[in-house]
Amino acid sequence: MESQPRSNTMVRDEVPSGEIRPVRVLVVDDESTIRDVLVDFLGMEGYDVLAVPTAEQALVALKERPVDVALIDLQMPGMNGIELMEHVCRDHPWAVPLMMTGYGTVETAIAAMKVGAYDYLLKPFKVDEVIRVIERGLEKKRLERENVRLKELVDLYDVTEQLGKSLAEAHVHDLLVETIGVQAEADVVGLWRPSAPGSEVLEEGARWLDASNSAPGLAFLAGITPKVMAGVCTTTSARVLHSEEIAQLGLTTRPLPRSIFCAPLCANDQLLGVLVAARFEPRPAFRESKRKLLAIMVGRAAAAMDNARLYGDLQQTFKQTIQALANILEDRDPYTRGHSDRVSRYARQIAVGMGLKPEEVERIADSALMHDIGKLGIRFEELNKADPLTESEYEMFKSHTTRGKWILQPIRFLHPLIPGVYHHHERWDGRGYPVGLKGEEIPLMARILAVADTYDAMTSHRAYRRALPHEVAMQEIESCAGSQFDPAIVEVFVREMSRQRRDQSSKAERWRALLDPDETPASDDPGPTAAG
Ligand SMILES: [Fe+2]
Repeated sequence: MESQPRSNTMVRDEVPSGEIRPVRVLVVDDESTIRDVLVDFLGMEGYDVLAVPTAEQALVALKERPVDVALIDLQMPGMNGIELMEHVCRDHPWAVPLMMTGYGTVETAIAAMKVGAYDYLLKPFKVDEVIRVIERGLEKKRLERENVRLKELVDLYDVTEQLGKSLAEAHVHDLLVETIGVQAEADVVGLWRPSAPGSEVLEEGARWLDASNSAPGLAFLAGITPKVMAGVCTTTSARVLHSEEIAQLGLTTRPLPRSIFCAPLCANDQLLGVLVAARFEPRPAFRESKRKLLAIMVGRAAAAMDNARLYGDLQQTFKQTIQALANILEDRDPYTRGHSDRVSRYARQIAVGMGLKPEEVERIADSALMHDIGKLGIRFEELNKADPLTESEYEMFKSHTTRGKWILQPIRFLHPLIPGVYHHHERWDGRGYPVGLKGEEIPLMARILAVADTYDAMTSHRAYRRALPHEVAMQEIESCAGSQFDPAIVEVFVREMSRQRRDQSSKAERWRALLDPDETPASDDPGPTAAG
């Protein structure tokens, strides 16, 4: 035994958990000579070697600590090498499994390779040959690990990108459970969230089940009681629970999972939810390296959920603010009561009829609510009169567009509404105010508001005239297409209004028929015949 260790670093390796330590080799052989030779030679090469005589002892040793290489004899008393090889390949996927035998046949080689052996050593072997095979196997496993890590990083990047973009909480929940389910190769993933903001009561928010093994997953979800959940959420960081800890949870449903990954979703010291993923037999337990990756995803999802929540709050504040401003305006002028709401409704109808995106439709409807906000600074008592306005009064009236812009300017989140407020009195032919923009120079929002605003003004009572009938107002709008209004928008408005009135009249018809059946027009139904 004159062989010298080549170098300690040669057999040190980055193991799956990420630590750098000597490569661990497990030798399983009932022949003591083989065990002794391998322990000595591999030990001198710097490997950390443990040798046991039976497959049963090997299983105990493997439970105590993972290994990087398993050298397994084919013929052993008790459990044979092929069976042990199956266990190693299934439960220790990062170990290099090698088969040794003194009775090599093609059949035994095929049997060993079939269950996952990386290579096959025929006794008697030279130690150098063993080392070469081990090194080749370790290199292959390292490449496999690199590939998996790269794929995980790419997936992590894709998912975090998507999570970051989503502003809808329900979408983040669904995306998270599905991603964790696929990434963790779990059988089931559930997400519980507080039943109300700040509440300690958790309710299930989203779930993902592996279609191929959904029965135990469904039973598991049904068994998550508040008591079980309390046992799961004992820390603020992600963790993996194994058999002994799972047995303590008090789950009454069966089968019990083999392994549970759980992670609280926290942002700004607030609990936003708890994610629980489980694996059942025959899947192996969650690994430590997987726990870290999943924890990063959960952390990113928590940030996305917090963003979605803040965005929701902001949206609500935004809606409340514009409604409050619209209320103040309407309260000041009895003649325009309900005007902003109606203009908003017509503008929304046009925007939807034009097939605009939902967020654009919302912006246009909100701008319509605000369109006359500039009238807040105007003395209505001078304008609400039967006589025509004097030139200076008309100038004062016209100033509401610029005043509106001036009112909204300091509030940054209301800026997207300004084009409608400022330009809703522009005309398609360029003879409008305050700027005199022409055609498509006028923001689309303002062109839509102009039609909606004029229609409502014509069909409402004013101090100087009574409301015009719908048909008259529509004729007037149509006659101004191409001069005052964008003809394409007038076309949509006419179409949408006729459709709405048709729907309304058929609805009214149905109500009349229900309330006064005698008035029901004769139907084609001949009724019961003599023949029954
Ligand atoms: Fe106006």
